[in-house]
Amino acid sequence: MNYFILTGASRGIGESICKKLLLKDHHLICVSRERNDSLISLANSKLDYIQYDLNNVYGIEELMEEIFEKVDSSVVESLTLINNAGLVFSQKIEETEPDSIIKIMNVNLLSPMILTSSFIKKAEQYDVEKRILNVSSGSSFNLAPGGSCYSTSKAGLETFTKSIGIETGNVKIMAIRPGMVDTDMHSDTVNRKNIKSADYAAKRILTFLFERFEHGKVVRAW
Ligand SMILES: NC(=O)c1ccc[n+]([C@@H]2O[C@H](COP(=O)([O-])OP(=O)(O)OC[C@H]3O[C@@H](n4cnc5c(N)ncnc54)[C@H](OP(=O)(O)O)[C@@H]3O)[C@@H](O)[C@H]2O)c1
Repeated sequence: MNYFILTGASRGIGESICKKLLLKDHHLICVSRERNDSLISLANSKLDYIQYDLNNVYGIEELMEEIFEKVDSSVVESLTLINNAGLVFSQKIEETEPDSIIKIMNVNLLSPMILTSSFIKKAEQYDVEKRILNVSSGSSFNLAPGGSCYSTSKAGLETFTKSIGIETGNVKIMAIRPGMVDTDMHSDTVNRKNIKSADYAAKRILTFLFERFEHGKVVRAW
């Protein structure tokens, strides 16, 4: 059995990734605040849904305990963590409440860091293929007024990915930057010329995960 832990499965890119991962020898463990009932009803393979707010970074080790209770050691063939959950806002920094700054860093950066740490720790006991894929953004380097918090969180996620890449050998890690994707994150985007569907983004992301994994690297999805 191939186990996939995926954050942000309730909608958007994460939901599309999950739909494509619903295969016989896959077991999905999905995490987000809202439960995705349509995904659960679609699941012809094993799928567990854990409702969790990743702003609560202090509970993540316990969350990983709960996740690994679902891993059957007699059948596990691979373990994959996909850090996809994220949020965005555009606001000048002096107009941004401290709580919003803390929340975006918690969800976009600190939670993937702590999930990675506890994933590596818990996965150590299994002599199987282990991968971590972090969903970043071109905003990590493509800066815009109002985007300082989002860009900083994604630049941090990319540096973290590259750092872990040189720190660990038996857990493979990479980050991927989708281009502009038609999800709630871009619901108010006016220029939709280059926007791709969540389904397309999921397909590209999974191509990198299964066929073009580049350990320690940050890549563009297209
Ligand atoms: N859309 C784009 O153009 C684009 C471009 C580049 C990168 N990305 C990245 O792609 C990833 C997915 O984005 P998307 O476009 O699919 O966005 P989306 O449709 O807004 O979905 C975001 C997902 O993240 C989850 N999430 C947000 N806050 C959370 C929290 N506090 N705790 C747990 N889960 C939380 C949401 O679930 P709940 O609300 O149910 O918790 C939802 O499932 C993000 O990391 C984003 O930065 C997107």
